[in-house]
Amino acid sequence: MKYNIAVLDGDGIGPEICSGAIKVLERIGEKFGHQFNFTHYLIGGSAIDACDTPLPVETVTGCLASDSVLLGAVGGYKWDNMPVDKRPEKGLLGIRKAMELYSNIRPAKLWKSLVSASPLRPDLVKDGVEIIIVRELTGGIYFGERGKGGEGKDAFAWDTEKYSVYEIERIMKIACELAIKRSKRIISVDKANVLESSRLWRKTVHEYAELHYPEIQVEDMLVDNTAMQIVKNPAQFDVVVTSNIFGDILSDEAAQVTGSIGMLASSSLGDGTRGLYEPIHGSAPDIAGKDIANPIATILAAAMMLRDSFGLQREYSAIEAAVGSVLEDGYRTADIMQEGKTRVNGSRMAQLIAERI
Ligand code: IPM
Ligand code: MG
Repeated sequence: MKYNIAVLDGDGIGPEICSGAIKVLERIGEKFGHQFNFTHYLIGGSAIDACDTPLPVETVTGCLASDSVLLGAVGGYKWDNMPVDKRPEKGLLGIRKAMELYSNIRPAKLWKSLVSASPLRPDLVKDGVEIIIVRELTGGIYFGERGKGGEGKDAFAWDTEKYSVYEIERIMKIACELAIKRSKRIISVDKANVLESSRLWRKTVHEYAELHYPEIQVEDMLVDNTAMQIVKNPAQFDVVVTSNIFGDILSDEAAQVTGSIGMLASSSLGDGTRGLYEPIHGSAPDIAGKDIANPIATILAAAMMLRDSFGLQREYSAIEAAVGSVLEDGYRTADIMQEGKTRVNGSRMAQLIAERI
């Protein structure tokens, strides 16, 4: 098959990690007889520098015309003090919204060979950890009304968290579809003891599951307690469904439990098959251009694209197995380096994974 992939390299380590993922996809193409065409578009800080906007129109049209999108990362010190419309993050939020990608799936998995990289005590993680965070991505406080006013000590600013039943139901459906193939358990995270929007969230997820997926057990957990439980007993989690902002925060925490944020990928989808696939980590400007960044998260993001957008399960598994085997053999980038293992740079890591496919 032929697939057109839009590549948004972004800033910092973005171009290096995308190039690692492309190398692996090309190898998949050779092995399984697919043709991947890559077209690069600007986003984030590099787009601000070139076109004075973090999300040029050509990027949006290019993504909407593609079969799927691979994204590196956006942001960097250089643009940290720019006005809000000229910030790299605006490009990322803008493309999520423009493609209507309301469902963000962030699996935090602890690889067997990396158990000792977890900052948690071995007895807490030895039986494996796989927390699949289903984060609502186009609503909530990220996109609610906001404003500011006043001056001096009277200056004020506000953001609003708002969710509709429609938005909660459609993300819950995604969580249910995942849970049905797994433990049939969902933990829904909210702050219903304080927030009105969370009370609607809680009521809606239960009503929806009871009506459409009665075999699924839905438990509620307050977000503060969830933050604690993730480090206390991470093995209790399977599928977690939550709002945009809670998902943002908890996915970084869950990622760290697995040892390296450099290992975790995410998929963002809407109603169609065209998605946006990216690592969970950021653009790491401090290590950009040194070829030390771990490309595995982006490689796994590319694998998720094959599975979730193109329905290529075998190709997904081939990448996952290649990553597992390279780790088993002791190859490590700096972020996951352990005593007695072989340190490799980012491009070598991608090469090793590609070779094993
Ligand atoms: C993420 C990031 C983004 C977010 C930022 C860069 C806007 O933290 O994808 O988790 O908050 O969604
Ligand atoms: Mg985040």
